[in-house]
Amino acid sequence: MSTLTSNRIKPFRKTITVPGDKSISHRAIMFGSIAEGITTIEGFLPGADCLSTIACFEKLGVQVERTSATSVRVVGKSINGLRQPASILDVGNSGTTIRLMMGILAGASFSSTLVGDSSIGKRPMDRVVNPLRQMGAVIDGKEDGRYTPLTIEGSFLQGITYQSPVSSAQVKSAILLAGLSASGTTTVLEPAVSRDHTERMLSAFGVQVNRQFNEASIKGEQQLSATHVTVPGDISSAAFFLAAALMVPSSMITIEKVGLNPTRTGIIDVFRAMGAEVTVDEQQESSGEPIGSITITSDGLKRIEIGGELIPRLIDEIPIIAVVATQAKGKTIIRDAAELKVKETNRISTTANELRKLGAQIEETEDGLIIEGPTPLQGGICDSHGDHRIGMAMAIAGLATEEAVVVNGADAIQVSFPGFYELLKQL
Ligand code: S3P
Repeated sequence: MSTLTSNRIKPFRKTITVPGDKSISHRAIMFGSIAEGITTIEGFLPGADCLSTIACFEKLGVQVERTSATSVRVVGKSINGLRQPASILDVGNSGTTIRLMMGILAGASFSSTLVGDSSIGKRPMDRVVNPLRQMGAVIDGKEDGRYTPLTIEGSFLQGITYQSPVSSAQVKSAILLAGLSASGTTTVLEPAVSRDHTERMLSAFGVQVNRQFNEASIKGEQQLSATHVTVPGDISSAAFFLAAALMVPSSMITIEKVGLNPTRTGIIDVFRAMGAEVTVDEQQESSGEPIGSITITSDGLKRIEIGGELIPRLIDEIPIIAVVATQAKGKTIIRDAAELKVKETNRISTTANELRKLGAQIEETEDGLIIEGPTPLQGGICDSHGDHRIGMAMAIAGLATEEAVVVNGADAIQVSFPGFYELLKQL
């Protein structure tokens, strides 16, 4: 288990880039694998999660070539051309890999078994198993398919209309992907729109996706045709460095070539509402995804209340928002975020417990957090609990503490942000 130490730093001005978007990198490998033709990907995130996706598709007979650290060539097999894996498919720590693959494998002509690490073993899979079963999928798993390991007996699927009880891109994507090999039309409705990378990228692969409000639908038996994907920098990774500029007053940072998909930019709205000056410059589009730069600076932060439809637009950023809120004036309230309990860790508890070790005044609620600020933070020894975003959030907290913050279990950061420590050292 590796350790990371972060220390108080002086105000800085910097321009950086961050590694590729995790959600988009997964989908580029998956859709390239089930497309006809050769898909080329640049800006791919070589993090542990996306490497798990590559390893799974290689076992399904797909040829995936890493042409450089961040460039990949995928020789598509078409949706009917995947072959039965000779061994169990291991998704590691990746919820996106397992849930989206369930949708792809449900309509295959063979059976397969999916497992993951101990964190995956605790995360609910019935949110995907149940709607897939309604489509005719045959899935067996621990506690009637609530948990891994899961065995999927590929079968004939029919389209359904599914009202999802949660706003989850993983659930929505799994059902839409199953819809590709189902008869008729498959429609997913969700309470608030979750990230829409699947819808955008399927369109880039030539699939017709119909969308309105909180609804997406797809007609079955459509083929994907290979394309070129430029993966933007991950705004969820950028969030830690935007936060760094807010934790160290009088700093300014610009993050270039980052994804600006509106279903992901809740963090910009929040930092602006807290009083930060944020400039966004949209410069290009690739595979339907807007890409550009974000510059942030501030001279004093104030409290905020976050809830409702904003939550899916910043769900992965809540731990780092909590860190920043410790330095904002007043009581920050985060609600409607019960989904955090079923992430890589229970992020309501891990965020509160770890920040408390540094002297933060933070309270857990049923569906969120209440943070009192501004509170001077002390140094201390924290733990990632095997959760990449908790590890990075605590490292950023350490930029503003009197003594150093030591983060145990820092290797978890490899899941989404290889090079995080090196970039942090540049500040
Ligand atoms: C993701 C969707 C979100 C997010 C996760 C990545 C995706 O999960 O938290 O990091 O790539 O579709 P949920 O769909 O469970 O909200």
